[in-house]
Amino acid sequence: MASSCPSVAELVAAARGLYVQVFGEEAPRVAVCAPGRVNLIGEHTDYNQGFVLPMALPLVTVVVGSQTSGQDVTVVTATEDADEPRRVDFSLPSYGSALSPGLPNWANYVKGVIQHYRAPPVPGFRAVIASSVPLGGGLSSSASLEVAFYTFLQQLQPDDGDKVSKAVACQKAEHTHAGVPCGIMDQFVSVLGREGHALLIDCRSLEATPVPLADPGLVILITNSNVKHSLTGSEYPMRRRQCEEAASILGKDSLRDATMKDLEEARDRLDDVTCRRARHVIEEIERTVRAAEALKRGAYKEFGKLMVESHNSLRDLYEVSCRELDELVCAAMEVEGVFGSRMTGGGFGGCTVTLLQAHAIDRTILHIQPLSPQHSRAEQKDPCPPNNNFRE
Ligand code: ADP
Ligand code: GAL
Repeated sequence: MASSCPSVAELVAAARGLYVQVFGEEAPRVAVCAPGRVNLIGEHTDYNQGFVLPMALPLVTVVVGSQTSGQDVTVVTATEDADEPRRVDFSLPSYGSALSPGLPNWANYVKGVIQHYRAPPVPGFRAVIASSVPLGGGLSSSASLEVAFYTFLQQLQPDDGDKVSKAVACQKAEHTHAGVPCGIMDQFVSVLGREGHALLIDCRSLEATPVPLADPGLVILITNSNVKHSLTGSEYPMRRRQCEEAASILGKDSLRDATMKDLEEARDRLDDVTCRRARHVIEEIERTVRAAEALKRGAYKEFGKLMVESHNSLRDLYEVSCRELDELVCAAMEVEGVFGSRMTGGGFGGCTVTLLQAHAIDRTILHIQPLSPQHSRAEQKDPCPPNNNFRE
């Protein structure tokens, strides 16, 4: 059954305990947190200036710490899945010079956020990270780490408080220091997500509309395939390049501006693969807008159908699914009371998200369980996390 999830208070207590143990000093003065997310629909559309519909999760990354005098930084992560060593010490760069990425990989997210912090210079500090978001599971542990760290820096040295600029700074950190050319979705919803709502984000204007999602008759089930994805691999950047190439052949700034008619007319000038990638994006952007409308009307069957269409398109046209994800989606769709299911996040592993009637939750879990023993419910009232044990 669903594994139990440490609460924010428990994570803060664990991080504070580790801080006192490692630094041998009084309790840290600051404690902040930022959530991971699940994307309901709108996959691989954010870097094409399209629409996405994610929601923030009750799984969070916590940062505790205190400012120090001087220019030295020490950060420790309590997360055992992070690469070793789990403690880093470095000096802040003098004003204007860069903080280079290096090893361990996890510290690059922290360095990137320091580098792009909007109210420099950042003072010296000591900090400890603890998280309930599984690493590399497609639920944006990285964005939650970036946003939590940015929030931590805001407590030491406030910026102007602009939330969209904060999300953009965290996205830049991921580009320059983690080497992932991600879109804005994860950081945006981690900063601006609202309890009891999904967020329809227009990734071109960076405007967001909260869509209520607190129906007690509804459950959102997240199931971990336990296949660890790696967004720094070549596939994600390759998809992004293919989309840019398609947009340029169509004479558009981005695929947001393209229609299926444009694509058909340019068919002879596009190779097969590029054409399929572009078709996914153009149709997925439209699907996402329709899905948000359906959700607002409480038309869950319609929403579920769009989820499955999205999954099939990611599997067949965008080619970012994998056998385990396809099997989880098929298994979920066999259960009465399930509206829809799809892979969520970048793909090549990670999680599926399933929308179902609350009364069907137990039989859905029982039916899926033989495929994946680790899963979580992201319900409004009774949230539980995926287990942190991943198969390598
Ligand atoms: P995800 O979908 O979880 O964001 P990514 O592969 O994009 O997957 O990012 C995961 C990486 O983010 C980890 O391998 C690690 O380097 C870093 N990370 C995330 N959370 C933590 C944490 N709590 N402690 C240390 N590093 C973290
Ligand atoms: C990753 C990435 C996002 C988005 C997503 C696919 O999670 O960080 O920006 O592109 O894949 O929809």
